Amino acid sequence: MNYAAVDHFFEQQLLASDLIPAQVAAACESAGLPPFSVTPTQGKFLRMLAQISGARRVLEVGTLGGYSTAWFASALPDDGQLITLEIDPARAAIARANLDAVGLGDRVEIRVGSAMDTMPQLVAEAGAKFDFIFVDADKQHTFDYFQWAIQLSRPGTVIVVDNVVRDGEVLNGATEDKHVRGMQRFFAHVATELRVDMTALQTVGEKGWDGFVIGRVR
Ligand code: SAH
Ligand code: DHB
Ligand code: MG
Repeated sequence: MNYAAVDHFFEQQLLASDLIPAQVAAACESAGLPPFSVTPTQGKFLRMLAQISGARRVLEVGTLGGYSTAWFASALPDDGQLITLEIDPARAAIARANLDAVGLGDRVEIRVGSAMDTMPQLVAEAGAKFDFIFVDADKQHTFDYFQWAIQLSRPGTVIVVDNVVRDGEVLNGATEDKHVRGMQRFFAHVATELRVDMTALQTVGEKGWDGFVIGRVR
């Protein structure tokens, strides 16, 4: 037995009726996208966090094929909105097709470009704040995305950061992996971040050992 087998068991017992994300996962795989999406149990966990927090406006940083997007979008009320940011136009096009195919396209706006540009653009637009923000793009910029996310938040906004453990590499001070170094930079800075109340959860499952930081803006 292993972590992946238990994840598959949970999927069969608890997620069997969640057909839309499963359809998007299959579409991501047949489009040949890399296996970077959150796992099914993680996707549903994130959707529950968004639901419990009453989120109507969700921002996602890192779209890939729209798998986590589909979980969030399927939790939104009818007047809800999700903006998701993706640097790769080919991936954005796949996500657009995947979300349209399952009837969620009308509530999702995909902005193509580096989030290092599109997040400050969102701040400059000074639109309504977001209720829930999921940071899941290139890891070297995680700290920057977190700073922009705070700018796009109101008190009570939930900010979740993915891939904060990376098989425990987050503690390897000698790592040359730029993604892990990005996460280390994030932790070095947020240790003194007073604007957000934060914790972290390690995860095991289909995609090995990783984790989330979960924050609530004060
Ligand atoms: N959230 C998705 C997975 C995202 S994978 C899910 O769980 O289903 C990370 C994505 O971030 C990739 O598609 C990658 O192309 C994108 N990305 C990388 N650098 C980026 C940047 N600077 N700005 C926006 N997106 C970026
Ligand atoms: C990878 C995993 C992720 O969850 C992600 O968001 C980006 C990359 C990876 O396995 O490389
Ligand atoms: Mg991720």
